[in-house]
Amino acid sequence: MQDLFDGDAKRGEQFRICWDDFYVDFSKNHLTQETLTLLTELAEECQLNEAMSHYFGGSVINATEGRAVLHTALRAPRNQDVRVDGENIIPGVHAVIDQIKSFSQGVIDGTITSSSGQPFTDVVNIGIGGSDLGPVMVTEALAHYKTHLNLHYMSNVDGDHVMEVLQNVTPETTLFVVVSKSFTTQETLSNATTAKQWLVDALGEQAVADHFVAVSTNLTMINDFGIDPQNVFPMNDWVGGRFSLWSAVGLSIALGVGPDHFEELLQGAHAMDTHFANTPLHENIPVVLALINLWYNNFYGAESEAIIPYTQYLHRLPAYLQQGIMESNGKSVDREGNAVDYQTGNLIWGEPGTNSQHAFFQLIHQGTKLIPAHFIGFKTPLHGKQDHHDKLMANFFAQTEALMKGKSAETVRSEGVEESLVPFKVFAGNKPTTTLLIDKLTPSSLGKLVAMYEHKIFVEGILWNIYSYDQWGVELGKQLANTILKEIVNKKGGAHDSSTSCLLRTYKG
Ligand code: F6P
Repeated sequence: MQDLFDGDAKRGEQFRICWDDFYVDFSKNHLTQETLTLLTELAEECQLNEAMSHYFGGSVINATEGRAVLHTALRAPRNQDVRVDGENIIPGVHAVIDQIKSFSQGVIDGTITSSSGQPFTDVVNIGIGGSDLGPVMVTEALAHYKTHLNLHYMSNVDGDHVMEVLQNVTPETTLFVVVSKSFTTQETLSNATTAKQWLVDALGEQAVADHFVAVSTNLTMINDFGIDPQNVFPMNDWVGGRFSLWSAVGLSIALGVGPDHFEELLQGAHAMDTHFANTPLHENIPVVLALINLWYNNFYGAESEAIIPYTQYLHRLPAYLQQGIMESNGKSVDREGNAVDYQTGNLIWGEPGTNSQHAFFQLIHQGTKLIPAHFIGFKTPLHGKQDHHDKLMANFFAQTEALMKGKSAETVRSEGVEESLVPFKVFAGNKPTTTLLIDKLTPSSLGKLVAMYEHKIFVEGILWNIYSYDQWGVELGKQLANTILKEIVNKKGGAHDSSTSCLLRTYKG
């Protein structure tokens, strides 16, 4: 890469995309113009543009589940027309947005109260996977914009996790939002049942109607659970769980940061949708990022992609993207059902900088693995602590330069290092990074960022010829867990391998 920079003084200006409040620098990658042209041709050969019109247009692109994939419709303006089975879904989308806005505003300003007439102080979101990770990530990311409501998240079926949440809230002023697209998820139903019992023990059965609301597609199951149908925020089966934060699943976001900020988040995502839908491939941010990832994954054998946000606010972004990316593109059969003979979805991991510099950066700088990384930073801090921000951003810029340039043995020697230590102080360099420099962390810029990754997932799925919107791979473990749970509860052994049998005997005593 150093040679590429030496040979072209304008490389930093040529390999970048400036769009809106985003500056995406992909010059510190193993790419030439020819590479990019060839990768773009690959995308054309895969009929990416045609696939994009099916994606935005509501075709059944989630073929193995027989569904359209329309998270983009959830942030479309009121005047847009998107059809599913011949019906324009946008009026319904906006009816739910209006319902979210009025309910969250009522809870925030205290006109919607608890069973004892007190304003709510705390909200517990009960959900897992896409019914948890998006709302947590966003409310953490937008903590600067928070309302007076304290948001808590109950996801794991671990009873210790449940009790830790419950012991930090009071029944009289706590609202529970039960979020489950299917309303059949073991973790969510178990946790909601425990939370409901805890509330009933304290306030009586009649309090449930005021303290529990639900988000789901499964209205029958919600009714069976005992949540008032008036307290239901519907979602549609054309929204995948991991892409659902824009739907009624975003209710906790609206409660946590206010309905106006929730709306700005949607508008930001829509702006990225428009960029993605209308921009030529070589200037299209999600497309270029997907092509770069494919380049390392399939041509260099890179196994992972690190996401390093230089803001503590985005500390849950890597976890959120782990589901988004790995649940989508962790597939090993192509669209015809044949085993692929090439690598598909890569590992996603990361932590905020500068903390991560003091944890795993050693391996990125001097380890044997190739780890392409995304560095995400913001020009303006939210609390105005410019001295801190300059230090944070100095590290942000220094790391990508250091990873690219490295440090030669000659340079190390010239610093007077003893010869026996020289090999240990050499940095090979040539480590690829892509830098996203964004003006400011706002609801709108966060919406753009998340939508950018959603579209990158889509493009990668097209290039790899896999179905990105199902997740059959999570089912087997769930089925076995149900079988094992019955054996544990009934104290009966089952037919298992010797390892699992011994472990179960040890657990059950
Ligand atoms: O883990 C599988 C999964 O289906 C995810 O795709 C989904 O986000 C999560 O479970 C939760 O599902 P639900 O919202 O239906 O409870």
